[in-house]
This record gives sequence, C-alpha cells and structure tokens, in this order.
Amino acid sequence: MQQIVTYGDPVLETRAEPVTEFNEELAAFCEEMFVTLKRERGIGLAAPQVGVSKRVFVTDADGDRPRIFINPEIVMTSPELVEYEEGCLSFPGLYFMVKRSGALRVQAFNEKGRPFTLEAEGMLARVILHEYDHLDGKLFVDRISPLRKQRALLHYGRLVKM
Ligand code: NI
Repeated sequence: MQQIVTYGDPVLETRAEPVTEFNEELAAFCEEMFVTLKRERGIGLAAPQVGVSKRVFVTDADGDRPRIFINPEIVMTSPELVEYEEGCLSFPGLYFMVKRSGALRVQAFNEKGRPFTLEAEGMLARVILHEYDHLDGKLFVDRISPLRKQRALLHYGRLVKM
C-alpha cells in the first residue's frame, strides 16, 4: 500500500526524474496511485507524494475521467490568472486560495508510452498545474505570500526564511 508523504520529507522538494522505461511495473505503479488517490479522497496525486521521485502524476477531477501523465510538459498557459481554494494530500488540513492560469495545454505520455496532448481549463487545469509543480519539487505553499507561507509552515512546526 502506498503511503502519502507529508511536508518535511525532502522528496517533496526535489525535482523528480523523467521516466525512461514504459513497462508493466510502471503501469502497475500508476494503477496503485489511483487506488491511493481514491482512498485519500483526492483529485490529483504526484509520484513524489508517495515517495517516488519520478515525473508521473494522475488526476481524477470532477466531470473528467481518470488520467495518467508521464514526463509531462506544460506547453501553453493562459495569461489570465484564476484564484481558487486548494488543498494538498501532503498538507492535511491546510487550504489556501492560490492563483493559477485558467487554461493550459499539456503534452505527456500515457503508461504505454504513447504521447498525447490535452487542453484543459477549470478544475482540471488547476489540478494539472498543482501536480506538475510537485514534479519540480514545488509546493502550493510556494505560490502564496511569504507571510501566509510562514504561518502555514509554522503549523507544521518548521520555520522558513523569508
Ligand atoms: Ni499537492
């Protein structure tokens, strides 16, 4: 069973490595991520959040189907920013208003190594951007004001430099 890694573990702040082999092990890992996502009642989960520093995330947003993104690249984001409340399975109990692009285009591979391009907006775009950040070791507290970030991290018993 995959365990959710919470804030403080260095894996969450490490840039994840690209996937180089598309095999059964990878497909099984992705399936397990969906099991974990459902168990934790989330809508998105990135591999570093289960302790695996690979460029993989999955989404299961309302009104959309489950999706797997491997070695994703965000190739376009809309200039207008939208503010909306976000949570993160690695920060249980913390929610923040976060500004992000309202729409995007992403290129990625599925678990079989087949490339695809997806245009997304609304909640799906937000989830993709949040999970993509995880692959670069960036967390949603990095996208709020330094003061709010410090308060949030104090909540987790850790001071940050401002
Ligand atoms: Ni998250």
